[in-house]
Amino acid sequence: MGKMIIVSNRLPISSTERGDKSVVQILAGEYASGLLNQLDKEEYLWFGWPGVAVAEAEERAEMIVSLKEKGMVPIFMDQKEAEQFYDGFCNETLWPTYHYFTQYIAFDDDLWEVYKKINDRYCQAILKKAKAGDTVWIHDYHLLLLPQMLKEQMPELKIGFFQHIPFPSYEIFRVLPWRKEILEGMCGADLVGFNTYDDMRHFLSSVGRILGYNHEAGYIHTPHHLVNVDSFPLGVNYNKFREAAESKEVCELVHQYKHELGSQKLVLTSDRLDYSKGLLQRLRAFDLLIDNHPEYLEKVSMVMIVMPSRTTVPEYMDLKEKIDTLVGRINSKYSTLDWVPIHYFYRRLSFHELVAYYRISSVALVTPLRDGMNLVCKEFIASRTNGDGVLVLSEMAGASKELQEAIIVNPNNIKMMEQAIYAALNSPIEEQQKRMESMQKTVRKYDVYHWSKIFLSSLDRVVQKQQKLK
Ligand code: G6P
Repeated sequence: MGKMIIVSNRLPISSTERGDKSVVQILAGEYASGLLNQLDKEEYLWFGWPGVAVAEAEERAEMIVSLKEKGMVPIFMDQKEAEQFYDGFCNETLWPTYHYFTQYIAFDDDLWEVYKKINDRYCQAILKKAKAGDTVWIHDYHLLLLPQMLKEQMPELKIGFFQHIPFPSYEIFRVLPWRKEILEGMCGADLVGFNTYDDMRHFLSSVGRILGYNHEAGYIHTPHHLVNVDSFPLGVNYNKFREAAESKEVCELVHQYKHELGSQKLVLTSDRLDYSKGLLQRLRAFDLLIDNHPEYLEKVSMVMIVMPSRTTVPEYMDLKEKIDTLVGRINSKYSTLDWVPIHYFYRRLSFHELVAYYRISSVALVTPLRDGMNLVCKEFIASRTNGDGVLVLSEMAGASKELQEAIIVNPNNIKMMEQAIYAALNSPIEEQQKRMESMQKTVRKYDVYHWSKIFLSSLDRVVQKQQKLK
């Protein structure tokens, strides 16, 4: 049996600069922790960027050695390349396009050239370690050209590609000058996966209209090979959140926070700082709630956790300023001597702190303007060991397709969100428990392990089908 090769823009590590050195730690975020646990049992390699520019050859060599023990291979970029590839083409061109923020798209051929160059750098690094029969699982929008590059040079690789962010409708996707090359790049994979059926449908429609390849029940016969396209909703590591919610560390934090916050009810929001998350709309809805319901003064607060993200991209810097201003305005409008309406954290909390907030909040407000899946809502559900709590969820998040027992809202409708928070705060306990139980069943069953198992078995299936066609 061949080995497993995972490829993502970032390695599942956090690299921090300490003195003049980068210090590396394994990061248990998103899908990575689930995959890492699973991969532990087999031979694997994980290729990705360490997240910092490592300029010195000696330091690069040290990092290669220390990551090798963990099965990881770093792909280096210098400062300028990271600016043009990661900040530039990935986050100023693809991210806004795929999240329907067309007004933010940078159309720049130089950025595209760097995007191709970095995808090729991944390709060459992988080819040095890969053998025929290995499985390569490529993740996300940073590496859209890699499937085709690999397939052309080593057709005997089994290649799966999973896109974590939405795939836009054809009318949006077509604006990209490089649309044809991007689709050809993705179609180099044997299996192309998305979070939702809608993303898959949009992709198939673009492939049909731009490349002229039609599909039959999600199977595309390209001139080169058979490609399967399907949806695989990403899940969380359910048991990890459950166990953490009952751990000593979290119980102590819950006790401490309750002591500090008193008997007031909490509405929780937790996100990366990103314009796709609808953070300003969420704040406006909370403002309206307090305005319409003065009885909530000193009784209900919002805990707003905002994790710094892509801090050198101009739109993210602008948004940070707008959030700071709006939080300041709302707090100065309603605060009393011993109460503030919004507890605002602009930093990454520890895993245990986050789970403690999931546990003590009455309501989770997860209202992105556009989101491929959204795992915060699933983490909240997994952490509710008491079986209560209400989720207010945007219909624009992929997760809304699975979590129908949430209160579903349109995040552009501030009044609707305000009413949803009100309904959530007043939801009878039996109703909360009934809905939470049903959502917990879904999140437990379709966890991150289930997701990767189904994806990989679908990849095997399409490769078998290709062999029958030969
Ligand atoms: C989204 C993307 C991921 C990305 C993450 C964090 O979830 O789908 O690929 O890693 O955001 O963004 P960052 O730019 O910090 O990697």
